[in-house]
Amino acid sequence: MRGTLPFWLLAASLVRASFWMEDVAHQGIAAFNPDETYPVFRNVRDYGAKGDGSTDDTAAINAAISAGNRCGGYGCVGTTISPAIVYFPPGTYLITSPIIGLFYTQMIGDPNDIAVIKGASTFTRDGKALLDADPYLSNGKLNFISTNVFFRQVRNIMFDTTAIPREIWAVHWPSAQATVIHNCVFRLSPNFEDSHTGIYMEEGSGGMLTDLVFYGGKYGAQFGSQQYTVRNLTFSGSQTAILQIWNWGFTYKSLSINDCEIGLNMSSPDVGSVTLLDSSFANVGTAIIVGRYNSSATGLGSLMIQNVKYTNVPTVMEDLDGNAVLAGNATGAVFEHGYAKGNLYSPEGPFVFQGRDIAFDQPSVLKLDDQYYERSKPQYENYPASSFLSARNYHAMGNGITDDTQALNVLFQAAASSSTSIAFLDAGFYLVTDTVYIPANARIVGEGLAAVIMGAGEKFSDVSNPYPVIQIGQPGETGYIEMSDVIVSTQGPTAGAIAIQYNLKTPTLGGKVTADTPPSGLWDVHVRIGGFGGSKLQVADCPITPNITNIIEPACIAGYMSMHITPSAGNLYMENNWLWVADHDIEDWNQTRIDVFVGRGLLMEGSNIWLVGNAVEHHALYQYQLVNVTGVWMGQIQTETPYYQPNPQAPYPFTQVNTDLYDPDFIADCPTTSASTVDLLPGDPPCAMAWALRILASKDVMVFGAGLYSFFNNYSTNCSTNSAGENCQARIFSVQDGTGTGLAGSTTGLQVYNLNTIGSVSMLTNKGEDMAIWNQTIATYASTVGIFRNDGTNGSLATS
Ligand SMILES: *[C@@H]1O[C@H](CO)[C@@H](O)[C@H](O)[C@H]1NC(C)=O
Ligand SMILES: *[C@@H]1O[C@H](CO)[C@@H](O)[C@H](O)[C@H]1NC(C)=O
Ligand SMILES: *[C@@H]1O[C@H](CO)[C@@H](O)[C@H](O)[C@H]1NC(C)=O
Ligand SMILES: *[C@@H]1O[C@H](CO)[C@@H](O)[C@H](O)[C@H]1NC(C)=O
Ligand SMILES: *[C@@H]1O[C@H](CO)[C@@H](O)[C@H](O)[C@H]1NC(C)=O
Ligand SMILES: *[C@@H]1O[C@H](CO)[C@@H](O)[C@H](O)[C@H]1NC(C)=O
Ligand SMILES: *[C@@H]1O[C@H](CO)[C@@H](O)[C@H](O)[C@H]1NC(C)=O
Ligand SMILES: *[C@@H]1O[C@H](CO)[C@@H](O)[C@H](O)[C@H]1NC(C)=O
Ligand SMILES: *[C@@H]1O[C@H](CO)[C@@H](O)[C@H](O)[C@H]1NC(C)=O
Ligand SMILES: *[C@@H]1O[C@H](CO)[C@@H](O)[C@H](O)[C@H]1NC(C)=O
Ligand SMILES: *[C@@H]1O[C@H](CO)[C@@H](O)[C@H](O)[C@H]1NC(C)=O
Repeated sequence: MRGTLPFWLLAASLVRASFWMEDVAHQGIAAFNPDETYPVFRNVRDYGAKGDGSTDDTAAINAAISAGNRCGGYGCVGTTISPAIVYFPPGTYLITSPIIGLFYTQMIGDPNDIAVIKGASTFTRDGKALLDADPYLSNGKLNFISTNVFFRQVRNIMFDTTAIPREIWAVHWPSAQATVIHNCVFRLSPNFEDSHTGIYMEEGSGGMLTDLVFYGGKYGAQFGSQQYTVRNLTFSGSQTAILQIWNWGFTYKSLSINDCEIGLNMSSPDVGSVTLLDSSFANVGTAIIVGRYNSSATGLGSLMIQNVKYTNVPTVMEDLDGNAVLAGNATGAVFEHGYAKGNLYSPEGPFVFQGRDIAFDQPSVLKLDDQYYERSKPQYENYPASSFLSARNYHAMGNGITDDTQALNVLFQAAASSSTSIAFLDAGFYLVTDTVYIPANARIVGEGLAAVIMGAGEKFSDVSNPYPVIQIGQPGETGYIEMSDVIVSTQGPTAGAIAIQYNLKTPTLGGKVTADTPPSGLWDVHVRIGGFGGSKLQVADCPITPNITNIIEPACIAGYMSMHITPSAGNLYMENNWLWVADHDIEDWNQTRIDVFVGRGLLMEGSNIWLVGNAVEHHALYQYQLVNVTGVWMGQIQTETPYYQPNPQAPYPFTQVNTDLYDPDFIADCPTTSASTVDLLPGDPPCAMAWALRILASKDVMVFGAGLYSFFNNYSTNCSTNSAGENCQARIFSVQDGTGTGLAGSTTGLQVYNLNTIGSVSMLTNKGEDMAIWNQTIATYASTVGIFRNDGTNGSLATS
């Protein structure tokens, strides 16, 4: 177990010149970029930026970002072959026009002394934002399709707009999966008439925001996206801290909103659902403005709150017309253990529900003190560069060709055997032909998001013999690991590959995490299969075949399972992870669809697991399957059913049911006659389709926001509309006891808050019974269930 840093290391940090990321040798490469001199790491100072607060650094910063054959401007909407890490040493960088975020860019400052990007008073009127991560082109469209903005980070930077006396956004951030803004500060004009916004996000499909501080602004942030996970944001002195422009589902945890007129304004009729946890409002006029509308959309504006404190807040909640829904206390504190406003199923429903002082169950194994456990990505800012063991120095080539299995195994052993060492995966594609084993006590960090471990070859190709690409701990092993900023992948036909097998049990005191016995962590560790340069699973290799019935290309079967958390595993914290089987080729400027086949998404066994900002997409059998787990925190989770299904239907091409893994049996579960135990749904929608979420014999599973989407049938979106009856698939979310699976016990203590589905007739199926049908609780484009409890009663729900 790692405790606090030894004294000598802290002392060393005082004399350390700069952040290790600046000091380490920059040996990272873009393996599949045709330009062999392509630089991944760029220090803005090397491109002429002064950071002295007076020189105009705009051109230098943009030169650092755009050096090499990068992706942006007209035409290119995505690529993985030209990633860039743009590093900002401490300083104040004055800019006069926007910094343009190109595809696959990580902008990183020094966490010990964060860089300031300051907009000059002369900032160009044409510029909408200091950092425009997805600028509008002259044709009125965003440069990068917002739902395709993947693999980006902004870290350790302060954005200062205070000198600009007009409307401006600090960061324009239409974004999607595998993106994060982490540890940044937004200094906005305290004069609300200047109309400043810290983060402006009008479109997109998720990602993560964490550890951000906002000062001033008409809006601290304006958020509109399908789904998002937002954690640990502090607002001070904004007029409105957060304007929720639209959403299907947002999960907010650990917000601290102080000295603002309005906290969260979610009154727009385009807001589907908000889950708000572990937060505080102090000296705020109105904490929350809600809006639920009299319309057929009865699921709209669903709001679920747990553990929120209001201090000196006269109005906790008001409606669009300014009427108080919940009074506060202008001179005291009000604490809310739970509040719900939405459609409740328990398990029957819907009951239209609105109430305060609701006694929500909160499993103590998931909490530290009074709050659900949370922990930010370590940046190792107190460690000198000499603590980092470079993969390149351990003879791993990362060139996508050389077999790096042995080198990585040696590297990870070395990292694990020294309490002051951290394995550093320089940018590159580490091709491995056998399992890479990560022992307990290893700490691993990838360079930007440009380090990829890629399994290839025979050992991974046997569908009857599933085989891990990386194995974290051996079954039964105990200990602790940290891993961040790494992508795990496969190349070519690898039907037996398990991208990540996680076996480690991390010890705790008395079965509970404490500050000194934290869970192990995987931050920004993603699985990406197919659709990238070098994968051998691109448009030319794996074209879609809608016009041919039930034909697939065997060379495009590229994985058995993306991730398996095995029964002996326990105490694992995951944040901002995306397990993606490519539905399109990122390198292709037309985003042409491809057919790549992976059997299973994330199979979770074990106990005490947190999934904070997590998405699993396009696996053939299921996206999430929870088997005999105890204590799981999931929020916001998101899934998509493969676009090709039901051509072929599930589980094709994975026709061998693996009962050891409790595979769903689509033949048994999808009867063709009404004499079966499962009801046929109206219109007989396709049944043999991947489950988004399947829970078997599990205890204390808390889902704080889920977006389970099935947009397609055989590549047509015609089914995912209200007028068609949201009938892309019959069922999407199954809760089962052990019955029939060989598992003892039932699923108990399951609580789901803000479940949003698209394209599934039944929104949730409890022990074979369909509890919620999409048209009972229509909200936005999605239908929204506010609360689902499976225990047959309203549990401890009780209005005061
Ligand atoms: C929240 O963010 C701040 C930085 O803004 C950081 O100092 C703090 O440690 C974070 N807290 C948690 C619980 O992550
Ligand atoms: C809240 O947001 C809505 C737009 O969604 C806006 O019309 C309304 O004026 C806002 N309320 C306040 C008090 O700012
Ligand atoms: C909405 O419905 C409620 C109850 O049916 C009714 O009291 C209220 O006047 C309606 N509001 C509007 C704006 O139609
Ligand atoms: C508000 O809080 C103050 C201080 O705790 C308390 O004295 C007062 O009774 C509270 N007012 C209401 C209406 O609850
Ligand atoms: C799939 O869609 C195509 C049209 O795009 C159609 O020709 C084909 O028959 C469909 N196949 C199945 C199995 O539904
Ligand atoms: C499938 O057939 C339709 C109609 O015949 C055609 O428009 C479409 O391009 C075909 N799709 C593919 C991927 O071949
Ligand atoms: C994209 O599609 C257009 C036709 O719609 C075609 O002209 C162009 O060559 C395609 N570009 C790429 C990079 O595939
Ligand atoms: C989808 O609907 C459109 C409009 O009704 C229709 O033209 C098209 O043929 C449909 N596509 C499929 C694959 O059914
Ligand atoms: C289910 O998990 C419990 C521990 O919570 C374990 O004792 C039991 O053996 C597991 N059952 C199976 C069938 O693996
Ligand atoms: C929902 O749709 C089904 C048909 O699919 C219909 O029988 C039912 O009446 C509808 N329910 C509501 C609440 O509209
Ligand atoms: C659950 O709560 C709803 C809303 O308060 C109520 O209408 C319903 O009767 C309750 N059901 C049970 C089983 O207690």
